[in-house]
Amino acid sequence: MAVVETRKLSKRFSDEVMAVDAIDLRSTDGEFLVLLGPSGCGKTTLLRMIGGLEPPTSGEILIGDRLVNHLPPRARQIAMVFQSYALYPHMTVYNNIAFPLKAQKVDKAALKLKVDWAALILGIDGLLDRKPRQLSGGQRQRVALARALVREPNVFLLDEPLSNLDAQRRASARDELQQFQRDIGTTTIYVTHDQIEAMGMGDRIVVIEQGRIRQIGTPREIYEEPADTYVATFVGSPPMNLIPDGGDLVGFRPESFFPLDDDGRSSGDDLVRFTLTDAREEYLGSEKLVYGEVNGVKAVARMATNAPLSVRDGGSAPFGVHKQDLRIFDRESGLRRQLARAAQVEPAPVSGAPGR
Ligand SMILES: Nc1ncnc2c1ncn2[C@@H]1O[C@H](COP(=O)(O)OP(=O)(O)O)[C@@H](O)[C@H]1O
Ligand SMILES: [Mg+2]
Repeated sequence: MAVVETRKLSKRFSDEVMAVDAIDLRSTDGEFLVLLGPSGCGKTTLLRMIGGLEPPTSGEILIGDRLVNHLPPRARQIAMVFQSYALYPHMTVYNNIAFPLKAQKVDKAALKLKVDWAALILGIDGLLDRKPRQLSGGQRQRVALARALVREPNVFLLDEPLSNLDAQRRASARDELQQFQRDIGTTTIYVTHDQIEAMGMGDRIVVIEQGRIRQIGTPREIYEEPADTYVATFVGSPPMNLIPDGGDLVGFRPESFFPLDDDGRSSGDDLVRFTLTDAREEYLGSEKLVYGEVNGVKAVARMATNAPLSVRDGGSAPFGVHKQDLRIFDRESGLRRQLARAAQVEPAPVSGAPGR
């Protein structure tokens, strides 16, 4: 096991492309750390630098508190699994898994023990005689993981390993992968552009945009206390509502809407009231989304289908949001204002259009 750390790690491919820009991060031992960001934000480049496949332009990489910049990939005791599993098509599953050990000239008996152990952990012990083309996408992914596992790495680097699976299979593969990581306890850095995957799997999430870290935090911190409007809208579906108010943006999640009764009243008085106009409901089964506008800006509410609110198409409805659910951002920089500031917000900001 090992801690992975980067210090001001950068990669410039050309004058225009600064793929990774002074990234500082430090995992804890055994952590499942997720790198989350849109396509092209530098996730793969960052992972490849940690793995030793891409030389940094500047900065340091430490694994187990040891500087590894000068070490080749195989000396870093890491294992990488990429989106394309790159299994050898002509080899059996057994030989695919055994491949890195053969390269290390491990003796045959020890090799068999390790392959059997890895196959058992990943639940593919019944598939050892098959060829990759005789496997499902999920099974191939597990073979790739087993091949990484036999090397008993200190760190796993996984780059969108589930993106080739269909949606249904992906959910269970996510679950299995997470379980597997908990069982073996190996520090894992996992790259994805899928915020749901990141939220479900990560001990912590590193949100990256254009080569820079926007925020590092637990899924709960990222969701509930986003550092800026980028994180607030990248994570969460639908994203956080942002309503301009002077030099600020008032943010709240779609599920923070509270239907008020026709008098605009509700129990408790820590509610900030406003009106959703030009509303339109979208039925989603167990819940519904209500799209509309607040103070002239698009907004969306999410609530249980049986919530005591029904809006005519194009109608308006009074809503409340608990003060504690408001997040205040600086409009210009997008940065979140201090929590203390949020607590001070009076009903004024979004009540330009009061309860009715
Ligand atoms: N070998 C390369 N040469 C030049 N530019 C590259 C190279 N690899 C990646 N890039 C550029 O660096 C940026 C980050 O790419 P990448 O790390 O693959 O992002 P991600 O994995 O987040 O999609 C992109 O603009 C990409 O086009
Ligand atoms: Mg990538």
